Amino acid sequence: MCGIVGYVGGRAALPLIMGGLARLEYRGYDSAGVAIQSPGGELVTAKKAGVLDNLRTAIGDGADLAGSTGMGHTRWATHGGPTDRNAHPHADGSGRLAVIHNGIIENFAALRTELESAGVEPVSDTDTEVVAHLLGAAFAAGPTAGDLTASMQAVCRRLHGTFTLVALHADRPGEIVAARRSSPLVLGVGDGEMFLASDVSAFLEYTRDAVELGQDQVVTLTADSYLVTDFLGNPLQGKHFHVDWEIAEAERGGYPTFMDKEIAEQPEALANTLRGHFDGRHILLDEQRMSDDDLRTIDKVFVVACGSAYHSGLVAKYAIEHWARLPVEVELASEFRYRDPILDRATLVVAVSQSGETMDTLEALRHARRQKATVLAVCNTNGAQIPRESDAVLYTHAGPEIGVASTKAFLAQVAANYLLGLALAQARGTKYPSEIAADFDQLAQIPDAVRATLAGMDPVRRLGQDLATAPAVLFLGRHVGYPVALEGALKLKELAYMHAEGFAAGELKHGPIALVEDGLPMVIVMPSAKSHPMLHRKMLSNIREVQSRGARTIVIAEEGDDTVAPFADTLIDVPIVPPLLQPLVATVPLQILAAEIARARGYDIDKPRNLAKSVTVE
Ligand code: AGP
Ligand code: GLU
Repeated sequence: MCGIVGYVGGRAALPLIMGGLARLEYRGYDSAGVAIQSPGGELVTAKKAGVLDNLRTAIGDGADLAGSTGMGHTRWATHGGPTDRNAHPHADGSGRLAVIHNGIIENFAALRTELESAGVEPVSDTDTEVVAHLLGAAFAAGPTAGDLTASMQAVCRRLHGTFTLVALHADRPGEIVAARRSSPLVLGVGDGEMFLASDVSAFLEYTRDAVELGQDQVVTLTADSYLVTDFLGNPLQGKHFHVDWEIAEAERGGYPTFMDKEIAEQPEALANTLRGHFDGRHILLDEQRMSDDDLRTIDKVFVVACGSAYHSGLVAKYAIEHWARLPVEVELASEFRYRDPILDRATLVVAVSQSGETMDTLEALRHARRQKATVLAVCNTNGAQIPRESDAVLYTHAGPEIGVASTKAFLAQVAANYLLGLALAQARGTKYPSEIAADFDQLAQIPDAVRATLAGMDPVRRLGQDLATAPAVLFLGRHVGYPVALEGALKLKELAYMHAEGFAAGELKHGPIALVEDGLPMVIVMPSAKSHPMLHRKMLSNIREVQSRGARTIVIAEEGDDTVAPFADTLIDVPIVPPLLQPLVATVPLQILAAEIARARGYDIDKPRNLAKSVTVE
């Protein structure tokens, strides 16, 4: 996720680009940069780490950035920390070409090695810079020399992963060339001017006529024309549409809230988090800072985190213990160091954090490192304090999560923890390579399962309206359904300010069943009838116990599990997935339920009262 803006036309490009980036800053704010074709035929760039204002300050009056063709970028780092030199645009050696990029170049390491062996010396840590050098070489010589469109087509044919690319060359004044695969890019068609952007909010105040670019397409823009081709150069028609959103809606992609948008982005967040972590034979962790040998020395795992991240750790416990046969303790980060845990060099402490700035988690990992434990961060924010202070990192690529309530980042944390579990099993030989490959293949199918889950959520939205006046909701789960119950309760607390509590269903009769009274809504996360028949039977008994005391049962169950129908006042189907992976689909209805109850209560879903997106105090 990042913000991209391009402009070519009769006006000064810089103010239009900076205004567009400001509209897109929610998409990523690690750094920002611009490139402008100057009237003198040069390409002038400026870039700065941090928020867009830092770039604005660096640019000053923008006198040396005059020109009517240019582009800009706000970064959400995936490769290389948020520094000036990693900020976009990136250049080749000529200084006459600039490239900006949204996405992940999956084969960048091999391409970087190829370039370095040809004498190229990259100046940044990013995957993007590789594209700049390839594009510069294609433009400088060979069959596509001097043709930026053909050069872009040729380079795109070599790239794996996801990308929106925009390029300018000083030898091609008044021309912008862009390409997209899986990352967003939309064209704005003005009167004698053209815009490019990650989403329409960047140019909506200038034109509502837009063209959607499709998968594996290249577009070449001038002030009064655009040409769309595929990566082989075959001409195509872009899909015209008229934008009738208001700007604020456009920033949310047309969704009513960022949380709604981020719930919908979960399949993509999962796919991006898993991408590049299995080469067909091996599970690969990020940045290779922990080898199989390193992982083999581990004899105990702690997961330390807060809130939803803590719940993702509870799921990790089931997976890692089952796959890698390693003992796992999951600790609230705020409690971890005060109980003086037993840690040593053979202990792996996994610090899970979306923001990478949560002080409780940061202090917990600092304590672990003082005790000589090895710390691995699972983090959604490249270059944040927690990964910076860890020995290794596994990034979730969920993109910026603006809504305070964690949704796509939580699912991405669960997926990353599964990857860690498979990597530990691989290193310890507790699973055959063929089993690990099969497990990763099942994990790789989950984005589609989440997409299917999202498509069936209307009954949950209606239920949310119905439960808006409930005094409380209880959540029950068994096995990995228990952390899901805790997460569902947290969502309801933080969004609808409603008393909600999650329990291990087996605990019900040890006290909580006293809470059950007539009409009390209870959400039950059913174990799989096929894979966990015993747990399924026990959960049916739990449902009978609460139904007989008047509870209103809302059951989340596998599609086709018709044994639960008589026990469900509301039955919500989710796709059948391997039992350990159930949290990735069963959590989705609980996110939507909480959001709908909050909406019915008229609360601010993106900014719930008393909460902050990142808790940087202990
Ligand atoms: C989850 O919906 C909450 N926003 C909160 O519990 C959050 O998960 C917790 O504060 C941890 O944040 P982190 O992942 O950024 O460390
Ligand atoms: N992968 C690129 C980087 O880390 C682009 C990230 C983005 O989409 O902003 O710089």
